[in-house]
Amino acid sequence: MLVNKKILLCVTGGIAVYKAVALVSKLSQAGADVKVMMTESAQQFVTPLTFQAMSRNDVFYDTFDEKDSRVIAHIDLADWADLVVVAPATANVIGKLANGIADNMVTTTLLATTAKVWIAPAMNVHMYENKAVIRNINTLHADGYQFIEPSEGFLACGYVGKGRLEEPEKIVELIREHFTTQKNLPLVGKKVVITAGPTRERIDPVRYVSNFSSGKMGYAMAEAAAALGAETVLISGPVGLDKPTGMTVIDVESAADMLEAVQAQFADAHIVVKSAAVADYRPKHIHPEKMKKQVGDSVIELERTTDILKTMGDGKTRQILVGFAAETNNAVEYGKDKLARKNLDYIIVNDVTDPDAGFGKDTNVVTLLSKRGTHQHFEAMAKKRISEGII
Ligand code: CTP
Repeated sequence: MLVNKKILLCVTGGIAVYKAVALVSKLSQAGADVKVMMTESAQQFVTPLTFQAMSRNDVFYDTFDEKDSRVIAHIDLADWADLVVVAPATANVIGKLANGIADNMVTTTLLATTAKVWIAPAMNVHMYENKAVIRNINTLHADGYQFIEPSEGFLACGYVGKGRLEEPEKIVELIREHFTTQKNLPLVGKKVVITAGPTRERIDPVRYVSNFSSGKMGYAMAEAAAALGAETVLISGPVGLDKPTGMTVIDVESAADMLEAVQAQFADAHIVVKSAAVADYRPKHIHPEKMKKQVGDSVIELERTTDILKTMGDGKTRQILVGFAAETNNAVEYGKDKLARKNLDYIIVNDVTDPDAGFGKDTNVVTLLSKRGTHQHFEAMAKKRISEGII
């Protein structure tokens, strides 16, 4: 399964470097073409010669040591790889990558590659639980990096806990799975942009207007798209859900922020799904200071936000544009009207009065209408399953 697969293994400095040797050996035996890049600290544990012998390729560690004058090595390797694996990944390299630092050949190449990058951390359990490390890992998750979680057990430092580099056999298995399933996935090479959650429209520094959207449906749609191999961009309003992995997550607050984010992603998107419950109105004036209560009633004047979906519908070229409609009556009729009015290809209509549908629930009941006039009903089931069906 790994024949002709080009894997760039970035080895950074931790005791688990010895396991990276076994990883290279197993990948090479499975037919992969493996090139190894090392940091200076990694070379304190194992010499480049060992990796050279195992991979039967040159080993790279000096950005300025250009072995082939026709190419710039770090850019060439970044472009060459089908998959980049950082194993073991130290807290240091994770921190650098999360902050866009490129101060050696490994970090420079990681910034230059457009291939998928998998990060397999290995460190002391307390380092792994350190707030800064957690913050950096979360940032990288949101940027679309994928992690091979460390396992639990005896650590070289004497501690027992989470921080051991995953076993080479397991990593090879994950890589094998990746290439086997990826090949046949229908959305490989397609960019899917999905919006999710509510928007918040500020009244003053401490208050806002919003709605009860949980983001669950949009997140499920994004996960379904990513699972089918799409390059997925999730544009999310404020929600309380864990950040999904394997995609880019862009956090936004207001309808105006969401419009800007969608516009920035739209031109090269193949499919755009607007699951977000965008506020239709926002306060006309945002008070710069907290509003003090007064005697008697108060009125907040609202103005319309831009209809993002309609704006995209008016400007679309090749994109397949998918909207949502939450209705309480005549759901399908109103849905058809929105489909035409906003120039959509599909609309997913929920009748939010159904006890199995709507905001915050894990299930939904929807009808998928297309501009060609077809419609498909999805009975009450998990939002995840409905999303897989729709995608
Ligand atoms: N939508 C949007 N921008 C807005 C409001 C809504 O992109 N400012 C999108 C939502 O993401 C959703 C679709 O429009 O995909 C349907 O939203 P809805 O508010 O139900 O549509 P409206 O046309 O505003 O319908 P209604 O007249 O029922 O309010």
